Amino acid sequence: MTRAHLTGMGFHVPERVVRNADLEKLMDTSDEWIVERTGIRERRFVQPGTGTTDLALEAARRALDDAGRTPRDVEFIVFATITRDQMFPGCGTMLQQALGIGTIGALEVHNACSGFVYAVAAADAFIRAGSYRRILVVGAEIQSTGLNMSTAGRDMAVLFGDGAGAVLLEAGDESRGVLASVLHGDGAHVEDLWAEAPTSKVMGRLTPEMLAEGRMYPRMNGRNVFKHAVTRFPEAIHEALDACGLRLEEVALIVPHQANARISEAVAERLGVPSEKVFQNIERYGNTTAASIPIALAEAKQQGRIRTGDLVVLAAFGAGFAWGASVIRL
Ligand code: COA
Repeated sequence: MTRAHLTGMGFHVPERVVRNADLEKLMDTSDEWIVERTGIRERRFVQPGTGTTDLALEAARRALDDAGRTPRDVEFIVFATITRDQMFPGCGTMLQQALGIGTIGALEVHNACSGFVYAVAAADAFIRAGSYRRILVVGAEIQSTGLNMSTAGRDMAVLFGDGAGAVLLEAGDESRGVLASVLHGDGAHVEDLWAEAPTSKVMGRLTPEMLAEGRMYPRMNGRNVFKHAVTRFPEAIHEALDACGLRLEEVALIVPHQANARISEAVAERLGVPSEKVFQNIERYGNTTAASIPIALAEAKQQGRIRTGDLVVLAAFGAGFAWGASVIRL
């Protein structure tokens, strides 16, 4: 039986560090409020002119280096983002071009915070089906250019950051690799976390009225997102472990989407695991949407928190609502 082995990880974040104190100058907020409610102390923002594909390129190079592979070894790209460089096309073929890889195909996953887990599940299915042997799976995001940086947008603006992460999945034997993935969604909550515009429902996609009303900025019912997240994360983790007949005690590290430190703490509590077993770096990067899990994975490896042979669980919840989890033997 063929499994998708995770052979390389890499991440890249912009150099510019934006601390909570920097946001205090732009809106009515405070370091104390942000740290207490979210755990975030700083995040990275790109300089103008940088695109999501630029961040992804650096992360992809590092993941390939980590795997001891070159861009030419990649047979397919799965690219998770909700902040592509332009309205269309997606970033996948741009990354292919930037890496200098022939005419390989690329699939874009537009699932917001759960995008990377969906991307891993899709790449794993391609590999197990024998379609491709080596797939580059990327999560990259530039949120900073799409936030309302005034008091009116403060509930969202303080949460997000920019960054990219990537992994290489390679066909291998059944001794390790992606063991199971579970994916779920509930469209009843689309409007609880969304950016309504630009929209295909309106001529011109974005009218002056919509601009004036700020309908292109993301909006969120934070309490409802929180309530669902703390239930869906543990549910998905249990379901994915059950699918491969493994127990929580065997897991070396849970790498959740970095949405909010309080969500991760509540998830650890509900699962009954010590908080050290749930990786957290949101204090330094904020919520980087589809990039947060691959950034966290690569950092966890850098810090020696995960090694070959370890059992790792990825889990995410976000806009859609869409959520899921993957169990991987490294
Ligand atoms: N700075 C200061 N005050 C702020 C603020 C900010 N950045 N954002 C909101 N507030 C204010 C609100 O206006 C409100 O004021 P009021 O009581 O005078 O009306 C007060 O703080 C409480 O707001 P509320 O939204 O009830 O706070 P909360 O305890 O629910 O925390 C979140 C807000 C966003 C931190 C929390 O709901 C959350 O984490 N939700 C999940 C978000 C998430 O993970 N999103 C990513 C999707 S994966």
